[in-house]
Amino acid sequence: MNEKLQQLREQFEQLSVQISDSAALEQMRISFLGKNGSLTNLFKELRTLSAEDKKTAATGINQLKKELEQFIADKSAELAAAEQAAQLANTETYDFTLPSSLTGGSLHPITLVQREVEAIFASMGFTIEDFREIVDDYDNFEAVNIPPHHPARDMQDTYFLDNGQLLKTHTSAAQNSIMRKYGAPLRAVFPGRCFRNEAIDACHENTFFQMEGMMIDENISISNLIYFMKTMLSEVFKRDIQVRLRPGFFPFVEPGFELDISCLICGGEGCPTCKHSGWLELCPCGMIHPNVLEAGGIDSEKYTGFAFGLGLTRLAMMKYGIKDIRILNSGSLKALSQFTAKQ
Ligand code: DAH
Repeated sequence: MNEKLQQLREQFEQLSVQISDSAALEQMRISFLGKNGSLTNLFKELRTLSAEDKKTAATGINQLKKELEQFIADKSAELAAAEQAAQLANTETYDFTLPSSLTGGSLHPITLVQREVEAIFASMGFTIEDFREIVDDYDNFEAVNIPPHHPARDMQDTYFLDNGQLLKTHTSAAQNSIMRKYGAPLRAVFPGRCFRNEAIDACHENTFFQMEGMMIDENISISNLIYFMKTMLSEVFKRDIQVRLRPGFFPFVEPGFELDISCLICGGEGCPTCKHSGWLELCPCGMIHPNVLEAGGIDSEKYTGFAFGLGLTRLAMMKYGIKDIRILNSGSLKALSQFTAKQ
């Protein structure tokens, strides 16, 4: 018995330095301590011994069993830690504190143009204002000198809510609030989404963007208006742009103008985008009507000002050579994701 025990101990000592993974360790456990394991069998043999020998042999077997169990527990923990470390070393590591990659999306061409124009006006001392899309009849019409039943309302049919509010038809709807907010003198631009009941074609949409601007101070004249418009357009297009001013009627300005630019799609020859005229209406403008100043709480005897309503959607089309306005609201990533690179 003692000999057998001695053999098993030597086996154990030999094996213990060879074990290098948990499968081999489990194999070792089974071979010693399993149902038919060598140490288990030795226990069974105790029966055949005399009481005296049984005692010493049992002590020896128990001692080896303890050592084995201790070894298995220690080795198993050591191997598990090493296996986990190896697994981690093979996995890709992530730093969750890093900012996410920006390659996933691109800015809409209108956003690009809007930001550019905002930066130009900001550099000339204009503040940039935000305004709601759902407005009252007063803001959209009456405050800008379009009383009920005025024929100018026919040009700006829109979407009405049951409570009488409406989706704003032009950014001019913010003029009154901004005049009341700042008083005079004042320089502000206010971009926004506008809505009209339109028959949709290559150059008309029911949803489009404008950027309105106002400058109010003492002695503001049409020369100031022309200067700011020209500066802005030459910055946006980064080249000399041909413009023309025609008289235009808008109830909120007097005198009022249409500022056209030569069509950049066809170079002025005529195409569907410019309705074959070679010119595109880009920026209606004028000197703010005294009624509008007064409605905004500004003394029209002391102050004058100009206002303009830049067609931001049309400007984006011109700048990027987009022939069909419908692309802009299409949600087509194939079309819309091209523009960041052109910046
Ligand atoms: N609100 C006008 C429109 O959408 C555009 C406009 C014309 C705005 C003349 C102005 C302006 O500020 O002076 O048709």
